[in-house]
Amino acid sequence: MRKLIAMSLLSLLSLMLPVLGCGSMSMSPSTQTDAMPKDGELMFPKNYKMFSTFLKGIQKPNAVRDLHINKTGAKAEQGKPFANGSILVMEVFKAQKDMNDEFAKDTQGNLLKGELAKVLVMQKGEGWESQAPEGMKNGDWLYSAFKPNGERLDVDYLKCRGCHLPLGDAKDYVHRYDEYFEKHGNAY
Ligand code: HEC
Repeated sequence: MRKLIAMSLLSLLSLMLPVLGCGSMSMSPSTQTDAMPKDGELMFPKNYKMFSTFLKGIQKPNAVRDLHINKTGAKAEQGKPFANGSILVMEVFKAQKDMNDEFAKDTQGNLLKGELAKVLVMQKGEGWESQAPEGMKNGDWLYSAFKPNGERLDVDYLKCRGCHLPLGDAKDYVHRYDEYFEKHGNAY
């Protein structure tokens, strides 16, 4: 009986410890684990317009895409993975149409940006890999899709993973990994 009381006291204490840890400036690892998001649960990076843009006007059959990266991400070195805290944002714009309902093009034959349709986000955090299903892990990246106003879109996140997975560790699951290092220059 005494053992039982001791044990329940112990478990009570271990329950309280993370809560107590919250009051201090640095969060204990256990509180961070509790707060670990999943795909679809990332915060909308409200200030992404202030991120550095490293690729602009990517041409798709009926859309145009721009890629942005936050400061932590921009510290990455070629041949190495992006650091935890990196945020990559892809803006997906509908292609503009002309009066004949055809896609409008500039003098170089490029589609023009119309309305912003979606904001797709990849973000990395310590241990976030544990949040992804076995066989679909993309390092510590998680995925979220938003409307331009920050509302979440209801999408199948296994599709994001499935299409970024083949890039593997070598490209840190980032499609434009090589171009990022070729083109971003000294962004910040
Ligand atoms: C059919 C394949 C495919 C799917 C599905 C997909 N992506 Fe991508 N993603 C790409 C490609 C290709 C690029 C590079 C830009 C381009 O060429 O259009 C990219 C680029 C990105 C980037 C910029 C970083 C990079 O990899 O270059 C982010 C962020 C991103 N995708 C997020 C998402 C999210 C979130 C989802 C799911 C909602 C998703 N992607 C689903 C193919 C895909």
